[in-house]
Amino acid sequence: TILVLDFGSQYSHLITRRLRELNVYSEMLPCTQKLAELGWTPKGVILSGGPYSVYWDDAPHVDQAVFELNVPILGICYGLQEIAWHFGKNVLAGEKREYGHANLKVERHGDGEVGGHVDKLFKGLEDDMEVWMSHGDKLSHLPEGFVTVATTANAPFAGMANKDKPLYGIQFHPEVTHTKRGKELLKNFAVDICQARTDWTMGKFVDQEIARIRALVGEKGQVIGAVSGGVDSTVAAKLMQEAIGERFHAVLVDNGVLRLNEAQQVKKTLTAGLGINLTVVDASERFLGRLKGVTDDPEKKRKIIGNTFIEVFQETAKEIAAKAAGTPNAGEIEWLLQGTLYPDVIESISFKGPSATIKTHHNVGGLLEGMHLKLIEPLRELFKDEVRELGTNLGIPEDLVWRHPFPGPGIAIRILGEVTPEQVRIAREADNIFIEEIKAAGLYRKISQAFAALLPVKAVGVMGDKRVHDQVIALRAVETSDFMTADWYPFDGEFLKRVSRRIVNEVNGVCRVVYDITSKPPGTIEME
Ligand code: XMP
Repeated sequence: TILVLDFGSQYSHLITRRLRELNVYSEMLPCTQKLAELGWTPKGVILSGGPYSVYWDDAPHVDQAVFELNVPILGICYGLQEIAWHFGKNVLAGEKREYGHANLKVERHGDGEVGGHVDKLFKGLEDDMEVWMSHGDKLSHLPEGFVTVATTANAPFAGMANKDKPLYGIQFHPEVTHTKRGKELLKNFAVDICQARTDWTMGKFVDQEIARIRALVGEKGQVIGAVSGGVDSTVAAKLMQEAIGERFHAVLVDNGVLRLNEAQQVKKTLTAGLGINLTVVDASERFLGRLKGVTDDPEKKRKIIGNTFIEVFQETAKEIAAKAAGTPNAGEIEWLLQGTLYPDVIESISFKGPSATIKTHHNVGGLLEGMHLKLIEPLRELFKDEVRELGTNLGIPEDLVWRHPFPGPGIAIRILGEVTPEQVRIAREADNIFIEEIKAAGLYRKISQAFAALLPVKAVGVMGDKRVHDQVIALRAVETSDFMTADWYPFDGEFLKRVSRRIVNEVNGVCRVVYDITSKPPGTIEME
């Protein structure tokens, strides 16, 4: 395992990501981690970048014991400054910002007096490399015992290595794809210099995780968890089913604002297809009853749906526990499953400053309060694409593994204005046609998220020979990599014509279709 100590750079998690792509297992912890409390010895340590200057009074520093571990260390950006600070505090020059592309010149020393190890970081790479810089400080001269291994026009010490020990520092970011051969540099460090094993695979992850879940839950312990039909909760549920079988209880709450036929489809896939012990609760009347009359407050819709969900889930959990108590091999339901992914974990553990309080992150918030359950999060080490790979590995159907994200409040936030059973019908049918056509055109995976929204206005149309006064459907389809910014998808005219014709012809109550051409920002992906 390679230990990444995080100083809070926006790129830190990418270091872990790249190492795993090399099949090297890596863990990221805050830079303040005490090594004595670690419980394992890393094969190597990477010190990440960060937004501070090492010479500030309140700047964060690693546990200095890291330098006595006698394992290779690579400092990236702030990490390089941190190594320099340890070896001589007088080598640091003040702020001179440098962002973006830079040309790096590698300096090789051969097998001469400094020993061949100093060249190992850039082994097999060109002498001229395109790299990505993002830093404020730089070294004024080298710390004692180091040699230069790379330079740029602006940074004469863009790369340094210790003459005696495998200690390296680089000013640029090898973890971002803008650094053309950065991954190979990380491979040189992890595999060649640290001799880390390259046997981290998804198959191995499944075996380890199943063993971990069994050990955690014990012979009789039981786990409950909500599923939505989305990829994360389904993969987490399947993993639990593999680990503890019937002692995992999945709950699907039908809130009345799921997509067309969704509850039935999820039930079929999860029970018949995947063998998951699933309870479907039809609470649509309770949800729709409470949404009645809420016309112009999207946040109120979200609150009603969130609170009602917690209420229904808790009632169901009690019923399941009562039923399970009678069976011979059952203990208490002690655990709540949650499909938390690594990006959520990073958000909660990453280093946010010397005095930052660590925030806990969970989607089901209120569920934990009052239920006396412990959280179990089998996906907390994985990125989204790794969850998809794991899902495929576990035999989950392709169309579910690649499903677009769907918000918890469902189509209630895609029905602008009041949510009534009739409005739900219209929005569902239109959405279903849109998604069907996207899939038929082979565009589903290219688009990150697509849906039909129902506008609360009426427009005039002519259908047959009759003048009609019906509602308007707005189509929304976006491409995005992180859902923070997004752009609308440029469909061709023939495609839009086909979708519009079908919706107007097949969905009663709609006489017009428009396409939303707003990017995010200023728009959001959802319309409410
Ligand atoms: P926005 O509309 O904020 O959406 O650009 C970004 C992503 O978040 C999803 N989203 C939600 N998911 N509960 C959820 O579980 C919500 O209240 C919610 N609002 C937005 C949205 O679908 C998109 O993927």
